[in-house]
Amino acid sequence: MQANDKAVKHGLAAGDAHRPERADWTIDQGWDNYSAEEHAVWKTLFERQARLLPGRACDEFVAGMRALPIGADQIPDFRRLSDVLMKHTGWQVVAVPGLVPDDVFFEHLANRRFPAGHFIRRREQLDYLEEPDVFHDVFGHVPMLMNPVIADYIQAYGVGGLRAQKLGVLDKLARVYWYTVEFGLVKQRDGLRIYGAGIVSSYTESIFSLDDPSPNRIGFDLARVMRTRYRIDDFQESYFVLDHLDELLELANIDFDPVYAAIKDQPDYLPGDVLDTDRVLTRGNGTYHAARRAETAAL
Ligand SMILES: [Fe+2]
Repeated sequence: MQANDKAVKHGLAAGDAHRPERADWTIDQGWDNYSAEEHAVWKTLFERQARLLPGRACDEFVAGMRALPIGADQIPDFRRLSDVLMKHTGWQVVAVPGLVPDDVFFEHLANRRFPAGHFIRRREQLDYLEEPDVFHDVFGHVPMLMNPVIADYIQAYGVGGLRAQKLGVLDKLARVYWYTVEFGLVKQRDGLRIYGAGIVSSYTESIFSLDDPSPNRIGFDLARVMRTRYRIDDFQESYFVLDHLDELLELANIDFDPVYAAIKDQPDYLPGDVLDTDRVLTRGNGTYHAARRAETAAL
């Protein structure tokens, strides 16, 4: 079975087993406590992505990375990241032990605090993640938080998440986060580029999402995405593509309530569905997931 790092359960409620003392679930990063091996795992991951991402990551990701104190040699210190982020977009990075409950997660985002896992995966699990670690959260998410559009969009998602919980439509909103912040692609002048953190922090999905003939690549549409289930434990069957990152600015400012109301009684779409109304950039041949389903059936 091919290893993957798709089991990133953002926004899914955590259990109480690892609840820290503070009510907001933050802990000290404990930067001085990282071992040489932990810094070395970071270096392996960083250098692998740094070789792969030119021509794949969007311009805004590259610009954010360049402006931040994130390098190959050591796991970044959240205090230093926050100093730079605060000056640019008013965001901070706070350490958490792993998954946090939905309401805690949204409350942080609504206040421009990005909760990042303080631990790093083990070397023998380089491509497998059960919870978002410091490489996914910092390498994947933090460069995009330097961009004013993404900064506003993710804050709006936090505010919207608190509201969606009250309305009982969190599953719908979570799909928007999933297919944008985590697994979004965007058109840029030379072709499709990655802006989603779940892709840009993954060696295998950085290739699959752009180059593989298997997945669909479909123009982003809010109501369509809200109705589309996603894969939590494998590559996506469909990626949704923005014409421009500024589309997220519009999403940050509109009222989602009429959209929730419009789709309230509509059925979900499966992750690999392609609709007549879709703006299809690439119709995937589905071979990757067909093979995975055959493997599972044979077990
Ligand atoms: Fe994430």
